[in-house]
Amino acid sequence: MSTLDFVVGIVYLVAAIAFVTGLHLMRSPATARRGSPLSAGGMVLAVAATLAKVANDGTISGTGWAVLGAGALLGAAVGLVSARRVKMTAIPQLVSLFNAVGGGAAAVVALMDVIRLTEHAGATVAGRTSVASVLDVLIGALTFSGSLIAAGKLQGWIPGRPIVLPGARAVNGLLALAAVGLGCYFMSGAYDSWWLVGSLFGALVLGITTVLPIGGADMPVVISLLNACTGIAVAMAGFVIDSAGLIIAGALVGASGGILTKLMADAMNRSIPAILAGGFGTGDTVNAVAPGVTGDVHPISVEDAAIQLAYAGKVMIVPGYGLAAAQAQHEARELAELLESRGIQVDFAIHPVAGRMPGHMNVLLAEANVPYTQLKEMDTANPEFPSTDVVLVVGANDVTNPAARRPGTPLSGMPILEVDRAQRVIVIKRSMGHGYAGIDNELYTEEKTGMLFADAKRGLAELAASVKALVGA
Ligand code: TAP
Repeated sequence: MSTLDFVVGIVYLVAAIAFVTGLHLMRSPATARRGSPLSAGGMVLAVAATLAKVANDGTISGTGWAVLGAGALLGAAVGLVSARRVKMTAIPQLVSLFNAVGGGAAAVVALMDVIRLTEHAGATVAGRTSVASVLDVLIGALTFSGSLIAAGKLQGWIPGRPIVLPGARAVNGLLALAAVGLGCYFMSGAYDSWWLVGSLFGALVLGITTVLPIGGADMPVVISLLNACTGIAVAMAGFVIDSAGLIIAGALVGASGGILTKLMADAMNRSIPAILAGGFGTGDTVNAVAPGVTGDVHPISVEDAAIQLAYAGKVMIVPGYGLAAAQAQHEARELAELLESRGIQVDFAIHPVAGRMPGHMNVLLAEANVPYTQLKEMDTANPEFPSTDVVLVVGANDVTNPAARRPGTPLSGMPILEVDRAQRVIVIKRSMGHGYAGIDNELYTEEKTGMLFADAKRGLAELAASVKALVGA
């Protein structure tokens, strides 16, 4: 082993330690800000070590370096600008796009490697490389197209509801058989890159047809799963080109994405195979009709809501996607502080899939300096609702919908925040509009529920002003 190889190995090790430590720091809101730059620093080290090795090996021509430099600059610029400009509410789409490019790039690495190895007659692909290449192409291509569809759904360019084409499951089965079959044929000794190209196209179409029928509340599981797939594809690319850095980084993303997928599926009481088989996790609701809400809605004024809050003993605030869309986290914290200054116990109840990305509400509220000791996870919050005087639901809909307790709705089986068990409920939202799952919410017509129709930011600010006016603060 040359000195450079030894140094590169050590740098990869340091980078791996930075990745693992960074991930560990991201477990808590208090340390997450340090975890992100640490992991990014590890990646910079790994890239620098790889470039040094490639330069020393002399395997890249002048044109190759130019292409590499231009690609890296373009990619970095697009990544930097999009990450800086993206609205908090659009981060899930951005994550999906990043998953797509990660999976796509990994698939292209394997394909190009095979083309390079087989372009000379008689050249063969080593058995170990061929297995990794096929897995890389299959998983990478499926992740690429599936993530693009997921991003389109989240952005609203593709309808979020399940799109189930006739015979979809049979078609998916055939596509999977074809993609895997072509890959196996390649591995069995055919070693003609066209078989791998065929496998790649099969996986690309399969990615589209697998994600299209998934909709409603199940997208969190899909996004996490695609994230895990990106990691696995990248790790496979590492085996193909013999890069320890890629293997380590890919394995970490694959493992953490896998854990997140399990957490999301458990949180929503969903089965991952059932979701992927087409439709909702409960398996029987692909064509479910949204339940219609019957009964009267009770709109209330800001002053009425302020009275209920100002004279409560215990208040639970339930944030949802609308709070993120309105960027009302600071107003929520200010209202909470105002009520606390009157001796009222105030907590925030956080549903694991509230918003549009895992941890969305935790990140928003941490940004507004809400102490995380005040954030109650669903399992802790639910037993507290019966003893809560007022629940203030801010821009949350699906995560509070009692329809989830009945079979036959897109939300069926998903555990909800049981706000309807509290004494009184105030809901701030702009209209009777649906949430992500696209169904009516029976909570809104309950006797105990008052609807405060307003934008979350404006509604919360007016509520705080009204509470102040009421108590002379
Ligand atoms: P949703 O069910 O999506 O409901 C959000 C509500 O916010 C809407 O009904 C909307 O009603 C209201 N709203 C929008 N803008 C507002 C504003 N400016 N001010 C006040 N209200 C506003 O949100 P949720 O309860 O947080 O549930 C999340 C849903 O997204 C779940 O179905 C979940 O499965 C899905 N999902 C989650 C994720 C992750 S990982 N968290 C990823 C993808 C999908 P109006 O229009 O009437 O105001």
